[in-house]
Amino acid sequence: MFKYPKVNYIGNKEKIAQWICDQFPSDANTLFDAFCGGCSLSYEAKFRGLEVYTNDILKINYHIANALIQNNSTVLSKEDVKIIFSGEPYEGFMFENYSEVFFFAEECKELDLYRKNIEKLESETKKSLAFALMRRTMIRKMPYSRFNINWAKIKQLRDEEYSYEKYKRKRAYHNKTFKYHFLQNVNEYNNAIFNNSKNNIAYNDDIFNLLDSVKADIIYLDPPYTGTMNNYFGFYGLIDDFISGSKTAPFENNFIDKKNVGKLFDKLFSKLSNFKYWFLSYNNSSLPTKDELLYLLNKYSNNIQVIERKHNYKITGKEKKQANKEYLFIIKNELYQENIIPNYATTEL
Ligand SMILES: C[S@@+](CC[C@H](N)C(=O)[O-])C[C@H]1O[C@@H](n2cnc3c(N)ncnc32)[C@H](O)[C@@H]1O
Repeated sequence: MFKYPKVNYIGNKEKIAQWICDQFPSDANTLFDAFCGGCSLSYEAKFRGLEVYTNDILKINYHIANALIQNNSTVLSKEDVKIIFSGEPYEGFMFENYSEVFFFAEECKELDLYRKNIEKLESETKKSLAFALMRRTMIRKMPYSRFNINWAKIKQLRDEEYSYEKYKRKRAYHNKTFKYHFLQNVNEYNNAIFNNSKNNIAYNDDIFNLLDSVKADIIYLDPPYTGTMNNYFGFYGLIDDFISGSKTAPFENNFIDKKNVGKLFDKLFSKLSNFKYWFLSYNNSSLPTKDELLYLLNKYSNNIQVIERKHNYKITGKEKKQANKEYLFIIKNELYQENIIPNYATTEL
């Protein structure tokens, strides 16, 4: 039995992935997970035998998808792990830019070494798997598991005595080494890789650039929920910087601005003609509201169902659990044509 590994992605659908996939129509064989994040939904869909196409604008999520969804068999060997952790830490990009910003200087030097070593792995898939694991280690060392916390707070929370006094938890795992966390997780990630005999593909682009070229029976939409804490570049941009060895720019079409989000959804829905079924995750504390979304969706279909259930997101710094009603909009695209005949085919041969 294959098991989705510990990814710990903010806003993930791990706990409700089965429930979502249970709703998929039986005539659907292919799925496009347009905002795949940590790939919890894609993993479940792959497990159920669908051909899965993933996309996310962040590089690190592309690598998670390349490692767990597109990849059928490549794992990291002991030799690969040795390559990643050999040599001497040095003062590179992470040291120059992120010492005492997110990690201690010595830790940044280690990250510079590991980044250089990952390049020595023999295939792109191995590199992706190494990045996915390196992400896991960076997240384990980071208070609140996201990279938008200031250094004073990070240092305070990594002080085990302070943490114990204040929260009755030492959080000693923040101070374990990258290598320790990597070794703790490598088997779990390796064991999660399986072949579902389909041609699964991982993409890495702004979704608005892909909707004309990717085609699938189902598109699953799990965009950042506007009005909640949803700045994904803020959460994980640092890992993209680590991967590219340069400062990456925040992305557009990020679903952060409450004023424009109605227009963004309208634009998104207008571009979904390649998909027979649309599945949209949203919740009751985000904008647009359920009624506003229904209004926009009604332009394309009268065959819409909304089902709901409770889902807790652990998103706040205080790790306070907030009860949410999670919606799943299920839309049958009534304008969808099974076999669209390209224009040239209508001319006389
Ligand atoms: C709610 S999360 C998806 C969580 C995912 N379903 C999971 O289970 O882990 C939303 C994702 O949308 C991505 N994203 C935001 N704007 C995007 C855009 N314009 N194009 C592609 N991806 C985008 C973010 O990087 C983030 O990973």
